[in-house]
Amino acid sequence: MSCHPKNYTNLVSDYRDKSSSAAKIFRRGENMCGIVGYIGSKNATDILLEGLGKLEYRGYDSAGIAVIKDNSIQVEKRKGRLAVLKESLEDNHVEGNVGIGHTRWATHGEPSDVNSHPHLNNEHTVAVVHNGIIENYLSLRQELTEKGYTFKSETDTEVLPFLIDYYYEGDLVEAVKKTISRLEGAYALGIIHKHHPDMLIAVRKDSPLVIGVGEGENFIASDIPAILNYTRQVYLIDNNEMAVLTNDSVEIMKTDGTKVDKEIYNVEWDVEAAEKGGYAHFMLKEIHEQPKAVKDTLSPRVDKDGMVNIKDLKLDEDYIKRINKVYMVACGTAYHAGLIGKAFIEKYANIPVVADIASEFRYANPFIDENTLMIVVSQSGETADTLAALRLAKEKGAKVLAVTNVVGSSIARESDYVFYTWAGPEIAVASTKAYTTQIIGLALISLDMALKRGTIDEIKVKEIVGQIWKLSDKIEMILNREEEIKDMANEIHTSEDIFYIGRGLDYYLALEGSLKLKEISYIHSEAMAAGELKHGTLALIDKKTPVIAIATQDSLYDKMLSNIKEVKARGAYVIGVAKETNKEIEEIVDKVIYIPEVMDELATPIAVVPLQMLAYYVALNRGCDIDKPRNLAKSVTVE
Ligand code: M6R
Repeated sequence: MSCHPKNYTNLVSDYRDKSSSAAKIFRRGENMCGIVGYIGSKNATDILLEGLGKLEYRGYDSAGIAVIKDNSIQVEKRKGRLAVLKESLEDNHVEGNVGIGHTRWATHGEPSDVNSHPHLNNEHTVAVVHNGIIENYLSLRQELTEKGYTFKSETDTEVLPFLIDYYYEGDLVEAVKKTISRLEGAYALGIIHKHHPDMLIAVRKDSPLVIGVGEGENFIASDIPAILNYTRQVYLIDNNEMAVLTNDSVEIMKTDGTKVDKEIYNVEWDVEAAEKGGYAHFMLKEIHEQPKAVKDTLSPRVDKDGMVNIKDLKLDEDYIKRINKVYMVACGTAYHAGLIGKAFIEKYANIPVVADIASEFRYANPFIDENTLMIVVSQSGETADTLAALRLAKEKGAKVLAVTNVVGSSIARESDYVFYTWAGPEIAVASTKAYTTQIIGLALISLDMALKRGTIDEIKVKEIVGQIWKLSDKIEMILNREEEIKDMANEIHTSEDIFYIGRGLDYYLALEGSLKLKEISYIHSEAMAAGELKHGTLALIDKKTPVIAIATQDSLYDKMLSNIKEVKARGAYVIGVAKETNKEIEEIVDKVIYIPEVMDELATPIAVVPLQMLAYYVALNRGCDIDKPRNLAKSVTVE
């Protein structure tokens, strides 16, 4: 990844046009990775392995650690999951009080022991872990080869220990600064040096990095859960900053050496919140956390009298009145939540909304000016395409409002306005509670915009907010029907294709239900606007083809029943999803999941829950690796 659209565009076109050296840089990029580091008096190996376990969601095709002991750097790195590294550490003991670790997710090319991090210089005096891409790696590699350095791996990262070695004249901080001044690209780095066993250096540019402050010990990590068992006090490191850690101190500076005074951020959520808490999988735990996540996201945004209050967002009233277009841009599940947000904004704030997938938006020619608002939706706040779309919109004069779950994430930092979803850490690759809270956030934003624009009155706002309050209990009711949904999963888990159909908001929900199923169960699935079926896809419906028919929209209910009859007539096995007051559906479908009565616009955050559970139990029946589906990673920080 390059988080600079300009450089990245160049790199991608090099990649496409030449299948050349630039292609290799792109292929070798280690951007969906996690880094961790420790300095103190405990056994660094244990702390690094524990931290890497919490970061495996960022990548899991190889892992490694480097630890200083008795003036030498001991390294162990292995292709495969963290368990492989742990096993090999049982035979090759590595211990010491300062060290760094890495978990990797290769974007292209084979993961291997030698390509795994940490990387070291030829004399094994310096070890580096890196999350990001060094774009000018090839020219640096050539320069260093001419100076006599011998490269072992195919990675871009290996230039880093060599450069540090080259610039090192007894002062490690100076050598790191000189090295950074030579780099183009994105990086979060952890660096140790055998002649400085009392020092751990961290650097950040365009890849996430936090520093944990303990008593007589300090930490670095790509994400907070990696160190939360040890400290709640963290510094959120900004771009172009570096930190020098010893047992007792953390010194933060710009990469040009200017000192930085930073406030400590106190992490308020619990370490258990980042662990499975008794559930078989993070995904199931996170599905069950939705009532709380919805409440946590909503309650700080509603006044005692039931009025929406998102003043902390500081949406400028004149600007909101002036907006004549909103772009809603995101990827995957966040995009699906954005589609629901689009419906809210169009209906209540009366502004046209163009919803687009970030990877498409970037290469289209969006009509943006100073009267355009872009809303980006992202759980992680680090998704490369969404970040690039945000930058493009800003360049063209739009203001950007982010709806994100990660405090201090790149998207949060670079946006003009930030609405945080208080869903807590989402670890499973399949996004669940982020989706429901994103919808709550977007609904509240639309109401605030509508009030500012005078397109809604306070009574209506209070009525809608009242309904949003009840969502949490209604989701809880659905969660209590888990057994029913397990039975349905048993009926369909051996299928090869499963279709999801709906109209209006139910079509948007069908997209989400289908994505959830395919990403964790590996069953082919398609979501269709139900009215579009007869224009082609109906040909695929055969005897016993499972169709999940979502019919929660009162205004489209009758039309949906007709569409269900169309698939039933071709022999489909239909599971319907409808409001409990709409019982006619029972006559047509094979099984039905009822959701509690709710206004149409708010049916999605309830009706998504049985779809999440259905996907979960289908995947469980098939023995899939639910929290870490094949080929996917939680944080998609490459294009
Ligand atoms: O972190 P983000 O919300 O920006 O991530 C966007 C998508 O990558 C993400 O929603 C993805 O589609 C999920 N795996 C779906 O469950």
